Amino acid sequence: MTLQAPKGTFDWLPPRSEQALAVREALTAPVRRAGYGYIETPVFEDTALFVRGVGESTDIVSKEMYTFEDKGGRSLTLRPEGTASVVRSVLQHGLHNGQLPVKLWYSGSQFRYERAQKGRYRHFWQIGAEALGAEDPALDAELIVLAADGYAGLGLTGVRLLLNTLGDKECRPGYRTALQDFLRALDLDEPTRQRIEINPLRVLDDKRPEVQAQLAGAPLVVDHLCEACKAYHEEVRSLLTAAGVAYTDDPRLVRGLDYYTRTTFEFVHDGLGSQSAVGGGGRYDGLSEMLGGPALPSVGWALGVDRTLLAMEAEGLAGAETAESRVQVYGVPLGEEARRRMFLLMTELRRAGLDADMSFGGKGVKGAMKGADRSGASYAVILGERDIAAGSAQVKDLASGDQTAVPLAEIVTTLKERLKK
Ligand code: HAM
Repeated sequence: MTLQAPKGTFDWLPPRSEQALAVREALTAPVRRAGYGYIETPVFEDTALFVRGVGESTDIVSKEMYTFEDKGGRSLTLRPEGTASVVRSVLQHGLHNGQLPVKLWYSGSQFRYERAQKGRYRHFWQIGAEALGAEDPALDAELIVLAADGYAGLGLTGVRLLLNTLGDKECRPGYRTALQDFLRALDLDEPTRQRIEINPLRVLDDKRPEVQAQLAGAPLVVDHLCEACKAYHEEVRSLLTAAGVAYTDDPRLVRGLDYYTRTTFEFVHDGLGSQSAVGGGGRYDGLSEMLGGPALPSVGWALGVDRTLLAMEAEGLAGAETAESRVQVYGVPLGEEARRRMFLLMTELRRAGLDADMSFGGKGVKGAMKGADRSGASYAVILGERDIAAGSAQVKDLASGDQTAVPLAEIVTTLKERLKK
């Protein structure tokens, strides 16, 4: 049997792969216009970074990491997310000693050993943006608006924004205790009881109906916020409204990573089934300190490229018919000498800025013309022995079928002229 891609992974193939590139481009365009600089960090990091940054009790760290020992005996992990790496990099290079906030964006593969299903993969792609070193509700709102604009730029209309706040180090401990008191009185299995002690907020996110049924009266963080968190959240909400970005308050929104404080949000799409989150993020005021750095209040998000594309397909925005035609000109050489000439003509056309491809492998005229039709080209350039002798080539308009002989020396200018429209 031929080898297959590992479970939970897949290949991006043309023409769908073009759409993946277009999605990445459209989701990053708004942040690039807002002063965010591009950062690339390693695909693997010291395991300790994610254990400390994402949190030991999260599913991501406890169950889903691709961790391995390298030949030097170091414990390394394929990154399951980008935020911890960005903070590590900012601290390592002292970017936070300059102008604040440090605004960065990234685009890359992430790896999580999850139960694979539609929209949930073990290797997936995120676009991320992080703004480090400022506690300012306008920054939270800016990032949320930029993500919303990214989705809108793709033509998506079914993306909904869910908004919550998780409080800060002043008010969260009191809420945590109240939640633990409530949860301890419920009828829950042993692993869940353990979770109450380590990470009670995660219990709210338990999807099992028998657990959800018992959570109806659970205390909510909104009822335990300190004045500062309340005011901060009000301002974020009011700025979003002013910017025309609609949101739904979701006091039960819990994120799967431990570093969040205050603002948290998720973008969901109803056309995706159970894996409905197309993006998510929030504020992480304590992460820098968790990684040994100074206080660096920060906020960010990551948007899932794979799920965004699924959302586009669900809205009929990403059919094969929207794929761009691949080339403008297709060369059909007939014979050895024609192949040499065609090779050079293609090179010339490309250097002149046209998209061009040709038939390879010594195909006959029928096979080569089939290639021309499939290529999406507007013109075929056909070159046979008789044409060479006459110093010209046949330029065929593939839509109308019209064919004219054009001197070889004028092919490039002629095609440039005709393709200008
Ligand atoms: P996250 O919610 O874990 O957040 O991931 C963000 C997005 O990545 C999700 O909303 C989803 O679209 C996509 N995603 C996550 N897991 C998978 C998967 N297994 N298959 C396909 N897509 C997936 C973070 O990663 C945080 N680092 C976001 C952040 C940045 N918070 C602050 N700054």
